[in-house]
Amino acid sequence: MKEFFNNKYTQGEFELGSNSICYSCPSNIALIKYWGKKETQLPRNPSLGFSLEDARTTTKLKYSKRGRPWDDSPDLKFYFEGSQNQSFAMKVSGFITKASEYLPFLRWLDFEFDSSNSFPHSSGMASSASAMSAIALIFVDIENQLFNLDQNQDVIRKKASALARIGSGSACRSLLPHFSVWGETPEYEGSSDLFAIDIDKQVHQDFMDICDSVVIVSSQVKSVSSSHGHKLMDQHPFAENRYLQARENLSKLKGHLKKGDWVGFGELIELEALTLHGLMMSSSPSYTLLRPLSLEIIEELKNFRTKTNCDIYFTLDAGPNIHLIYPHKEKENLLVFLRSLNLSCDVHHDHLGSGPKKLVVTNG
Ligand code: DP6
Repeated sequence: MKEFFNNKYTQGEFELGSNSICYSCPSNIALIKYWGKKETQLPRNPSLGFSLEDARTTTKLKYSKRGRPWDDSPDLKFYFEGSQNQSFAMKVSGFITKASEYLPFLRWLDFEFDSSNSFPHSSGMASSASAMSAIALIFVDIENQLFNLDQNQDVIRKKASALARIGSGSACRSLLPHFSVWGETPEYEGSSDLFAIDIDKQVHQDFMDICDSVVIVSSQVKSVSSSHGHKLMDQHPFAENRYLQARENLSKLKGHLKKGDWVGFGELIELEALTLHGLMMSSSPSYTLLRPLSLEIIEELKNFRTKTNCDIYFTLDAGPNIHLIYPHKEKENLLVFLRSLNLSCDVHHDHLGSGPKKLVVTNG
């Protein structure tokens, strides 16, 4: 990883007044799940997912050079939607400390972050992926500017993906538009445990208008942190079989994505989603994150599919919310289905995303 960054700038050999930079990064949803990791977020199996367009974190950083480098942890302020947020400040501080091993110039900076989400904070959709990926991209872009590295967008995103991974594993997929794979696999040339790669060339056109409508079954903060969840896999009796199954599923999903086979795709992503929850339910201690309403929606979706033959499927992350996945041409059916559920909860409609965006900073 250090060689990958190849950073020779260990001292404060750069000039800087104070400056600002702003990025918006998307959330992403996994279809083949990352569940189980080694140190520094090296995945036990490859995962595959896609970036969303509208669920984003926008983060602005004001930074200035210090007289001497900080020692243990950086001096930083973190504002989330206008208010100081101590718990996020601590997470970001830990991330910067780790990131400074690869980008030593960070030790010469003071930080003031201003961050907001495009989705309501109370939606239960808050993800560390969009937040960490935006910060990682900001750092790699600053490095590029400070040291005139002249790296192109692809190199910047690849480095940012590797850096984001250190903050939160799944964040590395948020640096890429559309579909991506993270984790070394013979299925995709150039794949790596260190960063995510773009796999769009191996995805049929029929998946390029994929949509994700998230039914917010519960807006509560997750009762199990992902990090704790991954740890449960270390002692899990099914762990080794799960890692094998994930590899097989990835290979099958690759075939469905290539052929444009929505039915094969749907069966497989639902199996992955339920496997993730099956693993949590059979962990020690065990967790049941699905709510009665989550199960009801899944059952109703199966009935609706039998009746209408539509291509609407579900996936889940480590929580109770249902991600309804479908091609855009099924939007009308999706709305009919949602109406039939007569829900009182919010639905966030989203679709395949164009990736990170650099935004112009207007007020310094
Ligand atoms: C179920 O990336 O949030 O969403 O690396 O500990 O930060 P850490 O975990 P995180 O785990 C995501 C788990 C998942 C599946 C996935 O996104 O692949």
